[in-house]
Formats: sequence, C-alpha cells, structure tokens
Amino acid sequence: MTLVSIDDQLASLSSSQSSVAWRSPSNIAIVKYWGKHGIQLPRNPSISFTLDAAHTDTKVTFKKKEQVDNDISVDFYFEGEANEAFASKIIKFLDGLDEEFSFLRDYDFKIESSNSFPHSSGIASSASAMSALALCICSIEKILTGWPNDSTDFLQKASYIARLGSGSAARSLFPEVASWGTHSEIENSSDIRAIAFGDELHESFKGYHDDILIVSAAEKSVSSRAGHALMEGNPFAAVRYEQANRNMVSTIEALKTGDILKFGKILEEEAMTLHALMMCSDPSYILMKAGTLAVIDKVRAFRKETYLPLYFTLDAGPNVHLLYPDEVADQIWPFIEKELKPFCVDGKIIRDRIGSGPRMI
Ligand code: DP6
Repeated sequence: MTLVSIDDQLASLSSSQSSVAWRSPSNIAIVKYWGKHGIQLPRNPSISFTLDAAHTDTKVTFKKKEQVDNDISVDFYFEGEANEAFASKIIKFLDGLDEEFSFLRDYDFKIESSNSFPHSSGIASSASAMSALALCICSIEKILTGWPNDSTDFLQKASYIARLGSGSAARSLFPEVASWGTHSEIENSSDIRAIAFGDELHESFKGYHDDILIVSAAEKSVSSRAGHALMEGNPFAAVRYEQANRNMVSTIEALKTGDILKFGKILEEEAMTLHALMMCSDPSYILMKAGTLAVIDKVRAFRKETYLPLYFTLDAGPNVHLLYPDEVADQIWPFIEKELKPFCVDGKIIRDRIGSGPRMI
C-alpha cells in the first residue's frame, strides 16, 4: 500500500463535504504513562510503538442544526448498533471542548465506529478510539474553517484533543514511535500533546512484531482511570517517576542505535514496575492472571535457552504483548504457537506490527 502523506490527505478535504472518516491505530507503551494530574497531564513521560492491525475506524457525519440550541447533539453507533452509553460519554467529552472548537453546538453529529479487534478481547480501545475521534473532529474544523494549513499543526491539535479523551491516545497519531510528556532531554516534548520520534528509528526496529496474547477477555476489575488515581497515594510514586525519566533516555538511545537487548530489558522492567505499583497501591489490586505469569516464565526460559530476543510487556491488564524483530520471526512464532497459544482464550492472538500511523478512509 502506498502511503499518502497527512498533508495530501488534508488537501483532499473539500468544503462541500458533510462527513469524514479516519482509521487510527492502538499503541503499546515501552515506558508507561501511569499517574496523572490536572486535566489529563501525565506524571511522567512515556514512549510507545504505534500499532497497525489493532485499530478503530470512525466516521463522523455532520449536518447544520435546523433549530439552534446550546446542546451537543450526537448519535453514536458502535459496530452498526446505536449505543447510548458511548453516546453520553462522547457528549460529555465534546461538551468540554468549546474553547478548542467553536462549531460543536451548531451541528448534529452522527458517529459510527468499529474496532478491528473483537470488543470482548480485553484489548484497550481507548487509544485508537479517542485518536480516531480527535482526527475526525479536527478534520471537520479544517473543512469548516480552512484551518490548519499543514499537517504539523493538524497533528499537534489532534494529539492534544486525543489526550483529553484518553492520555495514551495522544501517542497514536504518529508513525512507528511517539513520545508524550515533558522531558528535559527531548526536544519539543510536552505534557499537552505527543510528538513523533522522527526518522532516527534504527533498521532493527522496522517492522517489529507485537503478538498480543489474549490471556483473559474479562472486563478489568480496576479501570485505568482508577489506577492512575491510586498513584497519588502510592509510596513509591516519586521513585517511579524518576525511573520513567531515566528509562526514556535509555529507550530513545536503544531505538536509535538498534540495541535490542537494552530495549528488551527496559520493556520488561516497565511492565513489571507497572504491575508492582498496582500491587502496592492502597487498596492493592492484581490485574495479571495465572496465564500471564505462566507466559512470562516461558518467555524467560525460552530466551535463556535460545538467546533469541523475545521480550514481553503488559498494559494495564492480563494480556501479554510479545515483541521481537522481524528477522527472527520464523524462529519465534513456532514457539509462541506451540507453547503459549494454549494459555490464550480460544487460542486468540492478535498478530500486530509497528505501524505507519492513522490514515483517512
Ligand atoms: C498502562 O491512557 O488508558 O496503558 O488517560 O485515563 O484514559 P486515561 O488512561 P490510559 O492509560 C494507559 C496506561 C497504560 C500505559 C500507557 O499506555 O502508557
């Protein structure tokens, strides 16, 4: 597939259009965002791989209201069916965006959204869903007002808006690798939006694999929102934020130099720290399942035996992401299929790769 630049995609928008649609991917954090304050501001910077197979398609149709009122008017359809619960969440989100968009109360919006991954897979959809919605609303602004002129301003605003919906969504806007959160050694870094890593990603990470093992599809017992909040009273919070800042520098260096071993070490340290923080929160909670631990043990044993660079990470849930370079995929996949697939619900594994970012559809 040939890639059309975001600038060209924006240029294709016309003022006569009454709908717009985007496909936006999920992402997997290497250094994790865990803890927030103020209005969706992170306690520490984070960096992620943009994914490809796991994505959300969102189409927004907009029509000038026949009778002007002060309401936000949204009909929301998820996978073809009207969904009131999602509609009210989106209305609440858009209701807070008057300063960012002046037109929201003048139109009736119909939003249709669907995910590439099954709803019940336990895969967090907030990053792909909120980034796709942000891209649609920013495109409508472009259609109605002509602003912005270039992709830099457009993506900055879309990332800012996506962040307000879900922190990790801010990072889904960029190809391959994105970082979010102010860091003294990262140029242009900011707490209010993510930035692209740029073209310094080492060859070794191109086409990197992320096989997502669905160990449990059950709804999480503690939401990310509640988990972030519990960091405020966590006795290890300050050391954690320092560790994340250090890991940002090491990760960026590893991504530039192709140091897969260093990358893998940080990847696993971050996953284990995230879950350790949950376990020592008050109240304490555990999101890993027996299958999560079994997979982790097997991955470590496999690595010890084969010296192949297979590393795991977790987000705020029981499912395991297995990351490895494309060049060893033929040696690693048979192990995953034979030894790890039995731990997955209905043998479910989402075979994903590092991706090229969102696109208009
Ligand atoms: C563990 O972005 O889902 O996946 O801002 O409350 O929507 P909200 O939280 P969310 O948190 C993601 C946490 C994480 C780590 C990460 O993606 O960086």
